[in-house]
Amino acid sequence: MTERKTAARVVVAGAVYGGGRLLAARRSAPPELAGRWELPGGKVEPGEREEDALVRELREELGIETVPVARVPGAWPLPRGHELRVWTVRLVSGEPRPLQDHDALRWVTASEAAPDGQGPAPDPVDWLEADRPAVRAVLALLGPA
Ligand code: CDP
Repeated sequence: MTERKTAARVVVAGAVYGGGRLLAARRSAPPELAGRWELPGGKVEPGEREEDALVRELREELGIETVPVARVPGAWPLPRGHELRVWTVRLVSGEPRPLQDHDALRWVTASEAAPDGQGPAPDPVDWLEADRPAVRAVLALLGPA
């Protein structure tokens, strides 16, 4: 079952959280996505488990070691037949740095992260389209920070 679903072009992203904040990453590529923010992650490779792909992507992109905690309910459509799935993850070691694909990182509060700008958000995050509902689901799962 899981393997068949994995074959359906899954992009997996991580909700890395700590101290009441969520990690947001600003894409530097491709040009049409550059400058927009996302939950960091990437494509699941054929035969790879979703959780393993997430750990690998976060290691490659941010230099951190993480442990997936829980799959966030839901899946969000992406261009080219991909779908976005999100896991909450625990940061085990390392300080996140934008090593590839990103040029900035931000630890955001729930009100800054809230895609619909609930609450006072002086500097809201300009999320990629699919990440907006995904972040909403993450915040619902984690509860108000
Ligand atoms: O790094 P990799 O090539 O495996 O994947 P990626 O470029 O990070 O993600 C593939 C595509 O998924 C991106 O081009 C985005 O369209 C989308 N994506 C997204 O919308 N939101 C995310 N949090 C992660 C990826």
